Amino acid sequence: MSQIIFYGCGNISQTIIKGLILDGCTKTNILYIDRNPLNKKKLSRYGIKSADESKLSTTKNLIILAVKPKDALAACKEISTVISAPQLISLVAGIKIKSLKKSFSSKASIVRAMPTTASTYKKGITAIYGEQNSEKLILNTKKLFSRVGISILLKEEEEMNNFTGLIGSGPAYFFYLLKIYNEHLLNLCDGKQRDVDAIIINFLEGISSSISDGIDLNEAIDLIASKKGTTEAGINSLKDNNVLQLFEKGIISAMKRSKEISDEYK
Ligand SMILES: NC(=O)c1ccc[n+]([C@@H]2O[C@H](COP(=O)([O-])OP(=O)(O)OC[C@H]3O[C@@H](n4cnc5c(N)ncnc54)[C@H](OP(=O)(O)O)[C@@H]3O)[C@@H](O)[C@H]2O)c1
Repeated sequence: MSQIIFYGCGNISQTIIKGLILDGCTKTNILYIDRNPLNKKKLSRYGIKSADESKLSTTKNLIILAVKPKDALAACKEISTVISAPQLISLVAGIKIKSLKKSFSSKASIVRAMPTTASTYKKGITAIYGEQNSEKLILNTKKLFSRVGISILLKEEEEMNNFTGLIGSGPAYFFYLLKIYNEHLLNLCDGKQRDVDAIIINFLEGISSSISDGIDLNEAIDLIASKKGTTEAGINSLKDNNVLQLFEKGIISAMKRSKEISDEYK
């Protein structure tokens, strides 16, 4: 039976592993290679075993490359000493297939995937891109990430940069905004973080339910805002201070950074 080997098993790999286990994936089908003792400790707590390098040579095994961009090309070289034509899914931000392929033979199949951390709860959003000759691996990548959320296939590799800035980094922007709510709600809830968490959860689930209902975003705002009311004052102040444009600027900076990484690691 084929196995999934996470090469680099830090934050994102562990979120995917948790999601796969939640989806019923057998733990023995998941293996990892990682040099960080702290990650090794965590993974042994989940009952996930490390792979010895020979496992990489089994051509039907899927290798998921999930190291930081600065480590990715060296990791490919290490993998290539064991297998010259792997089935490899790279989660690495920015680095292009063309650059990853340099370490391997022309028979290697490499696909890029950009998942989100909500994969842990099977609420991930994963963008997938592969070249025309990698159809089988693209299909297997889609199958794999559909187990931990939804996935979208991108037509151009360049689109990975925009997806990374918009959705890959996206949850962090919302967590960042929620810090303001957290701070003010703590004052209202006598410093009780549990009560604040319950409020934030309902707040966000309420917003998701409205979207599930198919509400138009402007309509949703109009439903809350009344003439000369508090919401109108809040929204007007946000508009006067160009908050939307500033937020968009942040997202565009992340998209640009993803493109810069492509240029840094060729
Ligand atoms: N975090 C996210 O939300 C997210 C989402 C989508 C994509 N990604 C991408 O996924 C990649 C990994 O991100 P991450 O946040 O999971 O990083 P991370 O937590 O640092 O995990 C990477 C792990 O790989 C290990 N490693 C690096 N090179 C290795 C090698 N040659 N052999 C064995 N182990 C090696 C690292 O060890 P050391 O700690 O000793 O270096 C670390 O334990 C990045 O390229 C990122 O762009 C991340």
